[in-house]
Amino acid sequence: MASPDRTALVTGAARGIGLAIAARLAADGLRVALLDLDRDAVEAAARGIGPRAMALVTDVTQAKDVDGAIARVEREWGRLDVLVNNAGITGRSFPIWELSDEDWQRVIDVDLTSVFVCCRAAVKVMLRQGGGRIVNIASIAGKEGNPTLVPYSTAKAGVIGLTKALAKEVATRGIFVNAVAPAVIGTELLKQMEQSTVDLLVWSPRSRWAGSASRRRWRRWSRGSPRRSARSAPAPCTISRVGARPTDSAGGARYGRAARWR
Ligand SMILES: NC(=O)c1ccc[n+]([C@@H]2O[C@H](COP(=O)([O-])OP(=O)(O)OC[C@H]3O[C@@H](n4cnc5c(N)ncnc54)[C@H](O)[C@@H]3O)[C@@H](O)[C@H]2O)c1
Repeated sequence: MASPDRTALVTGAARGIGLAIAARLAADGLRVALLDLDRDAVEAAARGIGPRAMALVTDVTQAKDVDGAIARVEREWGRLDVLVNNAGITGRSFPIWELSDEDWQRVIDVDLTSVFVCCRAAVKVMLRQGGGRIVNIASIAGKEGNPTLVPYSTAKAGVIGLTKALAKEVATRGIFVNAVAPAVIGTELLKQMEQSTVDLLVWSPRSRWAGSASRRRWRRWSRGSPRRSARSAPAPCTISRVGARPTDSAGGARYGRAARWR
């Protein structure tokens, strides 16, 4: 059983992976703060988890608001043991020549700068209390690089680099920092992307081991215009069959123990 005094904060916890993580931490006995900018959804999510959950309506790109949210957790619950940096967007999935400065900046702000801002605020609390755990949700896009997702792949690669550097900074102070790099999981996130990109993400891990038809389709896609040729081809399988669980981890585990809440 986890200590009843342990607390966690999960960003982007109104739905999807973040909500599942928050529910799991609560089931393990932690108090959980669910942070999201979607007020209605995050309040409903916190109510669904129960009285030991708190909803925080905050935009992770706003450093002052993040500082305020983390200060509130410390004020109300006395400590912050676990931070999960999960909030994220893919942004529009288009080739680089069709992206605007705003497309790039928004994804970098939400997916990368927010992780810096949240880690900075949480580490100050964790240093005072003598330890903590941070888990950053990266993506396989950050390890492999996905076409039509240049900003997202760049931001997630940045999250992996940030995780490794921070893990080395704080491991000797009882703070362990890790990252997880999931492949495709069927959440609302996928609606932000063109169907051709989603099809590609589903095919690409599959094409490593699937038969020659899949490999031929992958090669055809790689040669042609992504948007035109992928749209005209049928999807080989459903998302849930391909990636229902994280497939890889990419973090500072060498510099600390793997994340443990208890
Ligand atoms: N679903 C996948 O296939 C997949 C794969 C690899 C990595 N990931 C990563 O997992 C994380 C969660 O993804 P998901 O699939 O659950 O997405 P989702 O879209 O279902 O949920 C993301 C949540 O983040 C919140 N959010 C977005 N911008 C925010 C902001 N500025 N401030 C606060 N909250 C914000 C949204 O309101 C939403 O509730 C993301 O970092 C994503 O990049 C997802």
